[in-house]
Order: sequence, then structure tokens, then C-alpha cells
Amino acid sequence: MSDIGQTCAQKILEARPGTYRIGMILGSGLGSLAGEVEDAVRIPYTDLPGFPVSTVTSHSSEVVVGLLSGVPVAILSGRAHFYESGDPSVMRPALETLKGLGCEILLATNAAGSLREEVGPGSPMLISDHINWSGRNPLIGEESESRFLDMSTAYDADLRAAMHKVAGQTGEPLAEGVYMWFSGPSFETPAEIRMAKTLGADAVGMSTVPEVIMARFLGMKVAAMSIITNLGAGLQDHALSHDETKAVALTGTDRMKQLVRGFVKEVSND
Ligand code: HPA
Repeated sequence: MSDIGQTCAQKILEARPGTYRIGMILGSGLGSLAGEVEDAVRIPYTDLPGFPVSTVTSHSSEVVVGLLSGVPVAILSGRAHFYESGDPSVMRPALETLKGLGCEILLATNAAGSLREEVGPGSPMLISDHINWSGRNPLIGEESESRFLDMSTAYDADLRAAMHKVAGQTGEPLAEGVYMWFSGPSFETPAEIRMAKTLGADAVGMSTVPEVIMARFLGMKVAAMSIITNLGAGLQDHALSHDETKAVALTGTDRMKQLVRGFVKEVSND
């Protein structure tokens, strides 16, 4: 791990000592969960060397450590995307910081477009696997042998089972599917969406995959979940927009919060 991760972790631990097994990256629609953390310490990314500054309007940029449903968590509230800088490893210092805080588990959330009509806007979708369509990888330039990272179990089976268990307790089954990473920031074309479907994707989006690769590289177990904000280009009768993404993501917030709160309790008992 780099010195940056250690330095930032130390700074956070000085502000709020604790053991943080569960780290999170909260994307569109779920930022308000960070506001519900109890006994919280909030540190702006600008106070942490190496941390990115997000230019996306719906994203805040702070680390929040504290208790969620009584469980210690370290939350990256807001992410920087590859499309903002062209750097697929832009979240590396932030993820190394989570690792430095003791996080063994990463839960990442995002907003995504669905390729399945039965999993429509407002629905959560647990990610079972991904397709990296961007051709970019945060480990490009990494020199250690561990850059040849196995990705065959990237989305941890036990963590997925925990999320399904929580969903089952709420009486609503949870969709699961393959997330395909497009670089963005333009949305896909209808032809690209048809291709994505043919290649086995269930949802498309502009984030998360580089973070998952980096988190696996750092040895964390990963779970990831999307809020579906629209059907993919050409599958719905109106144009796609970031305004729609932001507005519809909020309609899925309550359900996502319920799932995430249940999840942290469930996995903290392990
Ligand atoms: N495509 C890519 N990213 C997205 C979408 C989409 O349709 N919806 C929300 N994020």
C-alpha cells in the first residue's frame, strides 16, 4: 500500500479512532445515507492528500466514519469517475485509505441503465459480475506481480447471499445481473445497448468497475449494487439525461438504504 493511504487512514483514525471493517462508496441517490451516520466524523476529500475532487453535481466529496445501524463504517461519500480525468486509478488513494482503516469489505453503489424491462427505473440491482467495455484498467502501470489479478470471483458470493437474505426479509426479491462499464460521459447509443445485451450485460453504467478491480487488488471482498434510473438508450421512449439519472435515483433511495443498513448488520455478525 502507498504512503498516501496510510497517511490518510492515520488522519481519519486520529479524528475518530475505531476499527472499520466495512467501507462503502456511495453513488447517485445514496449520498444522503452518509448524512444518517451516527457519532460521525466527516473529513472533506480536500483535506486528504491524493483524494479526488468530483465534478459531478449530485456527488458530495467527504469521508464519513461512524456508526450505521450500530455498525462502524467508513464511507466514501462521492466518487470521481474515469470520464472526469481520463485516469482509471483516480480512486486508488481513497480505496487504499479504506484498506488502511481496516476495511475487509467494500460495498459500492451506483446509478445504472437497465437492459431488462422487468428491472425498471427505481429498482435496485445487485451486481453479480461485470464486463469492462472501457478497455481501461486501474492496474495499468502497476509493476508488482499481483497486477495479474484473478477476477473470477470479484463479486463475493457470501456478500451477495447476505444482500439477498436481507432483501428476502423485506419481502421483495432483489434482481441480480451483469454490469457493463462504458467510459461515458456520453450515454450509449441504441446500437451499443443492443450490443451490450447480446454480450450478456443486464445494466450499463459509467463507474464502479475500476473501483472493484482496485479493491480486489487491495484484498478487499466486494459487493456492488445499482439503482436503475432508466432503461438503456433505445429501450425507452425519451432521451437519456443526467437530470433523469439524479431524479430517478432518489426514488430508489429508501429501498437501497433499507438494503444497505440490513447488509451492514448481516455482515458484521460474521
Ligand atoms: N448509461 C450509463 N450510465 C448510466 C445510465 C445509462 O443508461 N443510467 C445511469 N447511469
